[in-house]
Amino acid sequence: MSIITPAVHKKIFRWYTSHQRSFPWRTTRNPYRILLSEIMAQQTQVRRVVEYYRRWLKRFPTFSSLAKASASDVLREWSGLGYNSRALRFHRLAQQVSSQFHSRLPKTPDELQKLPGIGKYSAHAVACFAFNAQVPVVDVNIRRILTRVSKKISSASEMMNDDDAWKFAEQVLPQKNAYNWNQALMDLGGTICTARNPNCSECPINSICASAFSKKFLQKYAVTKKQEPSWKGIPRRIYRGKILKLLHFHSLSVDEIAGLLWNDCTSNDTVWLTSVLDIMVKNGLLIAVKKKYSIVQ
Ligand code: ADE
Repeated sequence: MSIITPAVHKKIFRWYTSHQRSFPWRTTRNPYRILLSEIMAQQTQVRRVVEYYRRWLKRFPTFSSLAKASASDVLREWSGLGYNSRALRFHRLAQQVSSQFHSRLPKTPDELQKLPGIGKYSAHAVACFAFNAQVPVVDVNIRRILTRVSKKISSASEMMNDDDAWKFAEQVLPQKNAYNWNQALMDLGGTICTARNPNCSECPINSICASAFSKKFLQKYAVTKKQEPSWKGIPRRIYRGKILKLLHFHSLSVDEIAGLLWNDCTSNDTVWLTSVLDIMVKNGLLIAVKKKYSIVQ
């Protein structure tokens, strides 16, 4: 029998009742809003997402308003959140949903996963949070909880693989109330069972967790944290954001962009910048015409 019994479900539900975080997407079942929150929350801290989420909804309140916008307006509204291709894929999704589905999202994870930018995680999150489907959701936080509860791990590399985590999440899903279950696990992973500093003494399920109070694996997390690509000590994603801002109003050449980014620009800077611009073209964020770069329209 699984260690996650109905009694464990109860402990987590009870904990969630008194500890849940308040987020604007938790007071709506609107599929557009829920999908937006999930896309914004991928690779970005939820606390930062809230501000962008609210602002975005004022500008693009529905699928059809987003579908009608230009790509450069969409990128401008996303500016600062990072991983900008997410915005472009969401824009394409809005256009597809408006033209093919009368602005209504399909309801099942399988159908949702056919849309641009929607992977298994987002498809399950939307099916559960917007349409109340009784399905599991597995993000990095939930995968970490499931792994730690079920085995005492001594390094991050022993994390359950994706397939095993989804299977396990399916097995331990309570019979009812998947919505609160999945949200509760997200909060537990975001506030208690964190990657580097878990607060086991506050955890509602420390009595059944195989890794509770075992800090051995934590040092490894610090070591295995991936270094992000940088130039002159500044992360590449910051440069990408700056480049998009510079291009919002003008098309510019590599040399012009370099001159605006650095006062003391060297030929090494230009070579590096060219490689970044090329990646942005490949990712569909920019187009290059006659050696001038601009944002896709
Ligand atoms: N991260 C991704 N989705 C989330 C949600 N619905 N609540 C809290 N954190 C999240």
